[in-house]
Amino acid sequence: MNKQRYTVTAALPYANGPLHLGHIAGVYLPADIFVRFLKMKGHDVVFICGSDEHGAAITLRAKKEGITPKEIVDKYHQIISDSFQRFGIQFDIYHRTSSEIHHHTAQNIFLKLLENNHFTVEKSQQFYDEDYKQFLADRYVTGECPKCSNPNAYGDQCEKCGSDLSPDELIHPLSTLSGKTPVLKETSHWYLPMQRHEQWLRKWILNGELDGVKIHDPKSWRNQVIGQCMSWIDGGLHSRAMTRDLEWGVRVPLENSEGKVLYVWLDAPIGYISATKQWAKDNNKNWEDYWIKQNNSENPNLIHFIGKDNIVFHAIIFPIILKAHGDFVLPKNVPASEFLNLEGDKFSTSRSWAVWLHEYIEKYPEKTDELKYTLTSISPETKDSEFTWKDYQSKVNNELLSILGNFVNRVTVLCQKYTGGKIPLLHSSSAEIEKVFEEIHKFPLQIETLLYQYKFRDAQAEVMNLARLGNKFLAETEPWKKAKTSPLEVESILYVSLQITAVLGQLLEPFLPNTAQKLRNLFKQDLFAWDDIIENAKPISGHKLADLPLLFNRIEDEMVQLEVDKLLRTKETLNTKIEMKKNITFDDFSQLDLRLATIIEAEKVPNAEKLIQLTLTVSGMKKTVVSGIAQYYSPQECIGKKVLMLLNLEPKKIKGIVSKGMILMAEDKNGTLSFISSEKEMEEGSIIR
Ligand code: MF3
Ligand code: ZN
Repeated sequence: MNKQRYTVTAALPYANGPLHLGHIAGVYLPADIFVRFLKMKGHDVVFICGSDEHGAAITLRAKKEGITPKEIVDKYHQIISDSFQRFGIQFDIYHRTSSEIHHHTAQNIFLKLLENNHFTVEKSQQFYDEDYKQFLADRYVTGECPKCSNPNAYGDQCEKCGSDLSPDELIHPLSTLSGKTPVLKETSHWYLPMQRHEQWLRKWILNGELDGVKIHDPKSWRNQVIGQCMSWIDGGLHSRAMTRDLEWGVRVPLENSEGKVLYVWLDAPIGYISATKQWAKDNNKNWEDYWIKQNNSENPNLIHFIGKDNIVFHAIIFPIILKAHGDFVLPKNVPASEFLNLEGDKFSTSRSWAVWLHEYIEKYPEKTDELKYTLTSISPETKDSEFTWKDYQSKVNNELLSILGNFVNRVTVLCQKYTGGKIPLLHSSSAEIEKVFEEIHKFPLQIETLLYQYKFRDAQAEVMNLARLGNKFLAETEPWKKAKTSPLEVESILYVSLQITAVLGQLLEPFLPNTAQKLRNLFKQDLFAWDDIIENAKPISGHKLADLPLLFNRIEDEMVQLEVDKLLRTKETLNTKIEMKKNITFDDFSQLDLRLATIIEAEKVPNAEKLIQLTLTVSGMKKTVVSGIAQYYSPQECIGKKVLMLLNLEPKKIKGIVSKGMILMAEDKNGTLSFISSEKEMEEGSIIR
């Protein structure tokens, strides 16, 4: 077989928040499946990921939480890499863009491009915060959206109407640093004139052609990727600034460029290269083999797994950088996914509408394959799709359990019963059995073809079809009816069923690695090379089967209910906006004379249904108050209660009684009233402030 080199990357997550199932389904899980498969095929693969630690998203988050950017990225780098590891996404390296090797690599690539005249220097007016003496990145300016009047739009985007904006379009712009109106000030930056690259980009994207050589088949790219690229190119490519006025990031490696760093979308994809360098160093490899154009031997296949919001960066801007540099290969494919929704709504980190990977793993550490199975079967490969807990339950119960679990279970139980748990002999080969063998043999290639086309859903469905084939075979041959009459035939049937099980133990590896391992353990078999599965994954007659551990647990309604309720609670908190009264000053507040008072007498006010006349003592002083609480408290109940009282309310005559002060009550939606008291037993007269 033709062994090739593959450099597979998965988008570097921003280290400013945890990962949710949308990220996993779209990017990391398909990438992991692909890599596990390529490795079984015997290709030379490196699987790269890591934290994207720069950019305004991170500095802003840090500012909001009142900690340093470094503290933010350290925290989330740890959380994210742990959850990947526990979920079984097997990167060869999970690196960081804050590392020294990355800073050097990014700076060197910047310098090389500068040397090759790929940048222009341009002056522009940018918002500047005079208090903080700092230029403001787009995200640092907020103001009114010119399109929908949302008062809290950001300088790069309005989250309400989704428009892309630039800071100078905002009405009444404000700096998020000082809260003041920023001024415009001249600055200069290095720009990448992308329009210079239009010609070759068109040929490369539409025909897979570079420098007159066909380097990939454009039909193997997803329509969405080509579509987005062409609409960008057709809309006209422009110069794009490759540096920013910021403190946090990779410094521009030139004199007189203090306070300037590389644009995060220039530095981050270079993170793939620096991660490869680190991995090569640690593993005694040559990083160049995985990135640099080769003279005589074949070029490495560079594959970027990303979400659709990253397409232009990976299929236009980064390729321009790689090509302009001169030494690098260009991506062979950019399998970008669409979005996954959650229970009818978009995943949203800021609104906490999400199922977080680290929480799932914490709660259900034994159910990683269940989640992988569900996410792959709804993988948003060509259109948006949706995760619901109900669907998760049905996929686990009706597919994993009923089809796969059930088959393997039946086979092992039958073997216990008829052969004492020993792998039987294949005695005869009936036409029926011949046919099944023929079908089994087709599976590896069918699945391989789908995987090479990035059709992960279909590929996984195909593996399940092998389990279905097994169930059908057992149902048709009915070995349990033949034990007396044809014991040899029963043994043959069981042998074939075990063969299916053993093949499943190999083919499931990319998708459900834990389950695959359990199946291989039955036969004490290793993981075999993909091309040798049929040859090698043969049950050995006479060997004893190991015990089968439980493969899957039924998902009960309670779990679904619990998870859905949890989400709904988030939704409720999101949707309830309380109408707040306008702000008061502390001085306004301190005008209130609030005290703890004890009710010593209480009686109903004649001819007034709702009113009770209360006599209270506050530090020994007596006070009379008329209160509208008769529907909720009887006079008897009131006596002895220590309640919260406003002393200095202007006296008012109610039903002929002068009421001096007011008792504070809590009132719920239904108008029910309750006294308020101090949480600890406190002395009467205590001041409330
Ligand atoms: N951090 C980016 C995001 O989450 C992805 C960066 S991918 C890289 O959208 F190539 F730039 F690293
Ligand atoms: Zn708007």
